[in-house]
Amino acid sequence: MMGKVHFIGAGPGDPELLTIKGKRLLEEADVIIYAGSLVNPQLLEAAKPGCSIYDSAGMTLEQVIETMREAAGGGMSIARLHTGDPSIYGAIREQIDELDRLGIECEVVPGVSSFTASAAALKKEFTLPDISQTVICTRLEGRTPVPESESLESLASHRASMAIFLSVHMIDEVARRLIPHYGESAPVAIVQKASWSDQKIVTGTLSNIAKKAREAGIEKTAQILVGEFLGDEYSRSKLYDPDFSHGYRGGNEK
Ligand SMILES: C[S@@+](CC[C@H](N)C(=O)[O-])C[C@H]1O[C@@H](n2cnc3c(N)ncnc32)[C@H](O)[C@@H]1O
Repeated sequence: MMGKVHFIGAGPGDPELLTIKGKRLLEEADVIIYAGSLVNPQLLEAAKPGCSIYDSAGMTLEQVIETMREAAGGGMSIARLHTGDPSIYGAIREQIDELDRLGIECEVVPGVSSFTASAAALKKEFTLPDISQTVICTRLEGRTPVPESESLESLASHRASMAIFLSVHMIDEVARRLIPHYGESAPVAIVQKASWSDQKIVTGTLSNIAKKAREAGIEKTAQILVGEFLGDEYSRSKLYDPDFSHGYRGGNEK
């Protein structure tokens, strides 16, 4: 029988933020292929004796697929570990399509993304009533382009809560392009290595965050969170308002 590939969200770093299902599949895996640049190596301690472990950081898509094909052909269980949640900048689609072509079964186990882990580190909520009800996850174009219709400026025009991945090394440019929309004094937080033991947080405004990030030596593996959800003004939620009735709670509880 053919083996199966399990794409597993490894979470942002803290090994306890791996799902219970992800952990079980890691423990059962005959082969683990992990994204070595960001996945916490402590997660590999769950591997059973004799498990073959590959770091995909130095592999091409073709090599990853070939490793999966051989293992699946031998009836093995394969855990493909991606940082955070695999559906965000995980490059899993091209692997899934290749596995489909080869007739190899796969499933995706979600994980805690670094943008929610960063909000948790700050104890903030992206969707504050009357402030923003939308979260935009994006990145600045670099060696990998971003479609023109999703330029930082056009997304910023909504003034929604924003989580910017893969861009902290360009924080000057991010701030410069956001200021015309959010304003110079808009709050910003940078969270480096959210949930790791050496997590770093820098807060400021769009006008001073680049300098602060530089002073803190933050250059990679960080989220840039922007928006008034980081501020102190908001309305209280209707859901828990005694004057607001809904399916689970009758009206006018005082
Ligand atoms: C290739 S993307 C992968 C994102 C991942 N799939 C997720 O859901 O978090 C890598 C980027 O995610 C962000 N990132 C990953 N882990 C992080 C962490 N622990 N803390 C802050 N940002 C992180 C950084 O912006 C980094 O450049």
